[in-house]
Formats: sequence, structure tokens, C-alpha cells
Amino acid sequence: MYEYDVIVVGAGGAGLRAAIAAHEEGADVALVTKLHPVRSHTGAAEGGINAALREGDDWELHAYDTMKGADYLSDAPAVDTFAKDAPKEVVQLEHWGMPFSREDDGRVSQRPFGGLSFPRTTYAGAETGHHLLHTMYEQVVKRGIDVFDEWYVMNLAVTDEDDPEERTCHGCVAYDIKSGEVEGFRAQNGVILATGGLGQVYDHTTNAVANTGDGAAMAYRAGVPLEDMEMIQFHPTTLPSTGVLISEGVRGEGGILYNDNEERFMFEHGYANNDGELASRDVVSRAELTEVNEGRGIEDEYVHLDMRHLGEERILDRLENILHLAEDFEGVDGLDEPMPVKPGQHYAMGGIECNENGETCVEGLYAAGETACVSLHGANRLGGNALPELLVFAPAPASTPPAAIWPPRASTPAPPPRAKLANSTPRSRPGCWRTPKTTPSRTGVLWPNPNPSCRTPSSANVTAWRNC
Ligand code: FUM
Repeated sequence: MYEYDVIVVGAGGAGLRAAIAAHEEGADVALVTKLHPVRSHTGAAEGGINAALREGDDWELHAYDTMKGADYLSDAPAVDTFAKDAPKEVVQLEHWGMPFSREDDGRVSQRPFGGLSFPRTTYAGAETGHHLLHTMYEQVVKRGIDVFDEWYVMNLAVTDEDDPEERTCHGCVAYDIKSGEVEGFRAQNGVILATGGLGQVYDHTTNAVANTGDGAAMAYRAGVPLEDMEMIQFHPTTLPSTGVLISEGVRGEGGILYNDNEERFMFEHGYANNDGELASRDVVSRAELTEVNEGRGIEDEYVHLDMRHLGEERILDRLENILHLAEDFEGVDGLDEPMPVKPGQHYAMGGIECNENGETCVEGLYAAGETACVSLHGANRLGGNALPELLVFAPAPASTPPAAIWPPRASTPAPPPRAKLANSTPRSRPGCWRTPKTTPSRTGVLWPNPNPSCRTPSSANVTAWRNC
């Protein structure tokens, strides 16, 4: 058995940031991940990181755009914290050496993205996620954080009280993919699930084959509710053959969408008369599908995204990666031809229910990044809001370890409280009350009972009743 204060499951952007945060608290941290960190799906994030950094912009505008883009279904305090703290995280990344694209005067560049009232998306070419991963992995290596890569976490070690709110998570069980050996990982202060998205549930997705929703499944089996699972985002510009993402940065730089009649349909068919191609993703995806369904799609399947008018110099400077993707996966030269694109599953707004500290209703179990649902994105996440989310809401497990079934490790000092959260409003852990009661299966694993007791709702708990 391996023993640490904090185990982080998954080493994409969310896992790396959470490991750094926990390490900064004085915790002895291990990252346990089925991929090598820099092969994680965060590396496919192309477009950028939203943060109100410039004169003329304001965190409140960022908060407003986020809430509006979400169809007003986000949790307002989470939106506030997010928009206020995003600039600090971008500055932190810059200090860690992230190679942001820059203006001639040296300032970090920002470009327009869908649904934004100000051009506030910082970026590193069209490979922002790739650079983010490398920047944070360097910090992990520098801090000497242990990384168990190609270890597949199969389940959480959670106590088995009937009421999930009384359970405690003490670690996880993983197998070493190289040897097949199964090992226990004990976490004295907490386990952070940072396992990314679930796009492989869909046939056409931008998500990597590794994005199979493992973390959400493990949390659910442990009794933690999954929230907003019906809120799935479809990105408007994915390559038809593979689902590979063509960044919103193309439209941010001025790329135009055309149908088979060479009409600029976002305007000409009145889908978004003000924002056109830079309307929020749900609006643009729906418009594309309508064009195809009404017979104006190309080959009855897709539309065209044209960036030729941006000119070779600008394309090579800001969107070079896009040229390679279009060439490699569709055989199209984006400098000479429009690129074929259609909507594809891109992001799960919902996930493991948690608060702003990443705490779930099971003590000692935390969630971060796409697998988590702090309730920031409501019904639709804005492009460029996923990366700042995983930075701002990196959980820092409580300084006091949860009540242990094992004796505490004598050598472990209690980490100091996380400075960043010291001034924020304390939030209690979310309750598990939306979870159907669970009963042990024949194998001793906890599974949800298909006949939850919520069939007789209490009038005091209307939300619970609605969720039944
Ligand atoms: O289009 C993109 O570059 C994707 C960005 C995002 O999902 O945030």
C-alpha cells in the first residue's frame, strides 16, 4: 500500500493544478493517472483562458457573460469567485513561464471568443492546453511530487455507512497498467478526482479515447450525486471525419461560416444578428444543424469555416496548429480552401456535485475540472472558461484529516489553511440528500437502489422530489 496525505486521480490541467495547490499547503501528494500527464486531454484545449486583465474589462463583465452564456443556470457565488480569481491564476501561470502569445509591447494577447462582451481570451497560439500542461507539469517535477503514470484507478476506498453523508473516503485502488499489479493508495487528507470528461459516451466527440467518465462513475458508486448531467455542450467546429476540434479561436480571429449556397447563414438566416459566428456555442451548433436539416448543408452533413481572408501571416502566427489539423485529418489546406466543420460533443457542464472548495458530500472526497460540477457553466459553458475553472477551483483538502479508520500517520504535519481561500466565504460541504439510498450489491460494492425512498417526497424538500 502506498501512503500519502493527498491522492490526486488524473493528471490533466485540473489534476496538476490541484497537486500543486495541495503541495503548497504542505501536503505529501501523489498523482495517480492512467496517462502520462502531458498526454492528458487538456493538451487538446486549443483556444484559451478567459480572464479580465485589461483596462476596459472587469471581472463583473466576465461574470455577467458567464451567467448569460449559461442561460442563467449557473450558481452565482461560484461565478463571482471564478471571474474575480481568474486574472490571478493567469498571472501565476505567466510567472511559471507559460509561453502566452504576446502583443508587440510585450503584453499577453487577448482575443474575442464566443459569448464574450470583451476580447478577454488569453492564448498560446492554438495550443493553449498543451502549453498549460507542460508549464504545470514542470512545477510538479520541480516540487518533487510523485507521479504514478499509467496507473488506472478502479475504485475509491470509502466507508460503507448507509447514509452517504456519513461516509469517509480514505484512498483508492489502482492497477499498474504495465504489470497488472493491483495496489491500494491511502490518502490521509483526501482524494481529489480530476479525471476529465466523458465524451466517449458519444459517437462524434472532440474528446480523446481516454475520456470515459471514470471519476464521475466512481463518485456515484460512492454515493455522491451527479449534477446537471443533461447539460452537454456541442462545439460548432469539429472535423466531420474524426471529431477533432477546430478552435473557436478561428472565429475569434474573424473566421466565417458558410452553407452550401455560400450564404453567411449566422446573419443571413437570422440566427444571431448581433454576434454572428461569435454567438455562444449552443446557438452556433444549433444553427449549423438547422442548415443541414433544411438541405443547405454540404454533402448533407457539414458547413464550411473559411479563414483564408485572414492572410497567411496572421494564420501562421496565431492559428498554425489549425492548418496542420485540417491538412492531417481532412486533407484540406486552410490557406487555400474553407474547412469542413460540424457540431460535435465537446464538454460536460455537469459532473460530481461539489462546492467551490471541491468538497463533495462524502468526507475526504473532492472533485476538480471537467468531472466536477461546481455549477459554474449552467446549460452552456463559454469557450475559454474551462481552463480558468480548473485553475481557480483547484481543491485544497482540509488541513485536518477526516476521521480516520486507520491511525494518522505520525510524521504528517497538519498543513496550514490555504491562503487563497482564507478570505472567501466559508462553504459547508454539499449534502448527499439528492442521492437515492444505496444498498450493498452481492459483491459488497454500493450501488444505487432503483427504488429510492424519495417516492414519498417530503414537502420540505421540493428539489429532492423533482430529482426523483
Ligand atoms: O474552441 C476552442 O478552442 C475550445 C475552447 C474551449 O472549449 O474552452
